[in-house]
Amino acid sequence: MSVSSTRHRPRALPVAIATAALGLLAALALSQPATAQTGTLTVATDGSDSNPGTVSSPLRSVQRAVDLAEPGTVIQIRGGTYAPEVNIRIETSGTSSEPITMRAYGGEHVVIDGENMPNTPAPVGESYPRIERGAIHVAGDWWRFEGLELINGPYGIFAIESSHNVYRDLVTRDNYETGLHLVLDSSDNQVINLDSYGNRDPRKNGESADGLAIKQGSGSGNVVVGARTWNNADDGFDSWDFLSPITIEDSAAWGNGFDRWGFPDWEGDGNGFKLGRGDANHVVTGSIAFDNAHHGVIDNGNTASLSIENNTAWANGGTGFVFDRSTSTLNRNLSVSNTDAASLGASGGSGNSWDIKDDWSDADLVSTDAAAIKGPREADGSIPATDFLRPEGYPGLGADFGDGDEPGSDRYEAEDASADCDGTIDSNHSGYSGSGFCNTENTVGAAATFSVEADGTGPVAIEIRFANGTSSARDADVVVDGSPAASVSFEPTGAWNGWSTETVTVDLEEVANTVALVATGSGGLPNIDYMEL
Ligand code: GCU
Repeated sequence: MSVSSTRHRPRALPVAIATAALGLLAALALSQPATAQTGTLTVATDGSDSNPGTVSSPLRSVQRAVDLAEPGTVIQIRGGTYAPEVNIRIETSGTSSEPITMRAYGGEHVVIDGENMPNTPAPVGESYPRIERGAIHVAGDWWRFEGLELINGPYGIFAIESSHNVYRDLVTRDNYETGLHLVLDSSDNQVINLDSYGNRDPRKNGESADGLAIKQGSGSGNVVVGARTWNNADDGFDSWDFLSPITIEDSAAWGNGFDRWGFPDWEGDGNGFKLGRGDANHVVTGSIAFDNAHHGVIDNGNTASLSIENNTAWANGGTGFVFDRSTSTLNRNLSVSNTDAASLGASGGSGNSWDIKDDWSDADLVSTDAAAIKGPREADGSIPATDFLRPEGYPGLGADFGDGDEPGSDRYEAEDASADCDGTIDSNHSGYSGSGFCNTENTVGAAATFSVEADGTGPVAIEIRFANGTSSARDADVVVDGSPAASVSFEPTGAWNGWSTETVTVDLEEVANTVALVATGSGGLPNIDYMEL
C-alpha cells in the first residue's frame, strides 16, 4: 500500500566518468589564453587571474572564471577556502544544451566564505542592495552548482529571476540570512541533496533566515529532493508568497526556530516546512519535520489545495500538521509527540495516523534515534538509510528513509499526487499495486502522466504495469517532457484484473522528467497501475 512512500533519492553521477571528461577538457584547454571559452576553467587558491585557467596554471578567483564562462564551460574549483571581499556575481546564462557548471574539482572540499563581504551582518533593521545578497548571487539561467560549501555569506546563495538551474550536493551554513534563497520569477530549478544549517539573520533577529526559501515569486517546475535543513533561525523550508506549486520530496527539517545566538528580540518562527502564504498547490511527500520550535508542516495562510503525503512530524513544539487555512489533501501522514497531531479545518484525506487511532506515542515507533538522518551523507549524496520514526506495524504510514535503494523504490503509482490521470483513479479491479489505478477516458489523446526522477542523463528502461480486459491491443505514444520518444502496444491481458507489464526505453534527463502515456486509439489507454524505472 505504501510503495509510493519509498521513492528513491537520486545518486551522484559516476565520478569516474565525470573526472575522465574533465581531464580531457583540461588537457585541451592547456596553455590557452584566458579568453571566454566553452572548455574547462580551473580555479585554485594558489592561482592567478592572469593565468589561462588550466589545471597547471589555474585562475585565482571564482569571479574571474564566472566572467570568462560561456555556455558549456565547466568551472572546477580546487579545494580550499575562498574569501573574496565582494560577493560572486553571476549575470550570464548557459543554454539548455550547454549549461554552465561550477563544481568542486574531483571531490575536493571547496569553501566559499562570505565573511569579508559587506552585510555579514547588515545592521539591525537595515536593508541592502539585492546585488550584494548571496556569497554567490545568481541572476542567470542554465547553471549547475555542485559540491560547494557556502558559509558566512550575506545569504549563502541568493538566486533572483533565475531558472533551469541545478543546485546539487551543496552545503549552505552559518550565513547571515537564508542558506539557499530563490526569489521572483524562478522556474524549473532543482535543489538536490542540500544541507543547510545554522543560518541566522541578526539583521532581523531571526525573522527570516531559513535553511531553504523559494519565496516571493512564481514559476513552475521547482523541485526539492533530499534536502536537510536544521538549526536555522527561522524555518527549515519557507515558500512565503511563492505563487506556483513546488515539489518537495524525501527531505528533513529539524531544530529550526531556536535562538542559538542570543539575539535581543527573538523573532524566529521555527516550522519545519512552511508552505504559505500565496495560493499554490505545493506537494510534500516522504519528508520528516522534527524537534522544530513550532509546527512540523504548515499551510501558513496558503488557501490552495496542497498535497501532503507520507510525511512524518515528531516532537515539534507546536502541531504536527497545520492545514486549517487551505483545502489540502493529507494522506498517510504520521504525527507523534507533537503538541497536537493535526489541525485541519477544511482539509481532508485519509490513512493518516490521526485517522487510525488517537493515542500515538514514541512507543509506536521503531526508532527515535536521529543519529543516521543527522549523520554524514552517503558517497552518492543520499541521506543514510534509517528506520528513524518508522511506525511499528504500519508499513504504509509516514516518511520512510529506510530503503531508498531497494527494488520497487523507483516505482511511481498512477494514483499518486505526482501523477496525472485523464480519467478516474479506480480500485474496482483487484491486483493493482498501491491504492488504485488510472482508468483513462476512452478517447484518442487520453493520457497518464508521471513525474519521474532519473539518476543521470541517458536511456532508461521504464516498466509499465497495465490491464487490458478487451480483446484488442491499446496503443500509446510515450511522450517525454513534451516530445514523443517511443510507442508501446498494450496487448489484451484476458481480464481487467489480469495485470501485465510492457517495457519501453527512453532517454531521460538527470532528475526531473515528465513521462506521459498518450493513447493513440479511440479506446484510450488500458488501465495503468504504475511506472517503474
Ligand atoms: C471497463 C473497465 C474499466 C476500463 C474500461 C475501458 O469499464 O471496468 O476499468 O477502464 O472498461 O474500456 O477502458
